[in-house]
Amino acid sequence: MKKTEDEHRREICEVGRWVHQREYIAATDGNISVRLDNQRVLATPTLMSKGMMQPDDLAIVDYQGKKILGRRNASSELAMHLLIYRRRPDVQAVVHAHPPVATGYAAANLPLNLALISEVVLALGCIPVAEYGTPGTPELTDALAPLVGQYDAILMANHGVVTYGADLLSAYMRMETVEHFARISLVSHLLGRQALLSREEVGKLAEARARYFGATGAPVAPLSEVCPVTADGRRVPARPAGEPGTPAGDRFWVSREELEALIDEAVKSAKVR
Ligand code: 13P
Repeated sequence: MKKTEDEHRREICEVGRWVHQREYIAATDGNISVRLDNQRVLATPTLMSKGMMQPDDLAIVDYQGKKILGRRNASSELAMHLLIYRRRPDVQAVVHAHPPVATGYAAANLPLNLALISEVVLALGCIPVAEYGTPGTPELTDALAPLVGQYDAILMANHGVVTYGADLLSAYMRMETVEHFARISLVSHLLGRQALLSREEVGKLAEARARYFGATGAPVAPLSEVCPVTADGRRVPARPAGEPGTPAGDRFWVSREELEALIDEAVKSAKVR
């Protein structure tokens, strides 16, 4: 049954409390919106704790971002929400937050794209990082635009995470999944081994994903395209390619000490000759 505007207002305040209690946001971070109809979006106010909102703190805006109703101004990140609604007719709600572990990956410019956990591959495929863009400017929406069509959760470099879905609960739960998966990824990284699912297993999950989510309009692009590094079935070292100690193609990395020792040795052997 279609929810009333009042119900949406109460639900947004509730989700605001959840993201605050779970420490996915601090101070006045984050924003949440719901598509009311094809003219109006209900959005959280700017510069207010999203854990302490009352239903009448929310603002109603049109798809150009112009305020229609509300004593407070809508989020400064409204353009990001409106971009997602324009590009994804299946999306009814958007949640933006700064959950610390996933935002750590975003700050390190590392996508969460390893096929480590079957349920995450099934639910989200992988989670890319959008390039950095100054918050509240077209830079940020330009960086997200190429990714919105294919993903339901995006890390925003040096900023945070945005998730969206067919209703507010699924948009919120995707935020939980991203942060939970970021923690698991970090633990497997610290343990020093990340055993990826095989290409075959990822293929089976992709089929199941199309079966489960195909009808809802969620992305069903082949996982081997969407998550290029997950499908090779190799057991990869914990450190991403390019970091010290990890082979990366023809290049290899050594510490300063190791380099000095190598140079010393080369000098010594040159003297002997
Ligand atoms: P608003 O309070 O304007 O929504 O901004 C919070 C935020 O997290 C910006 O990225």
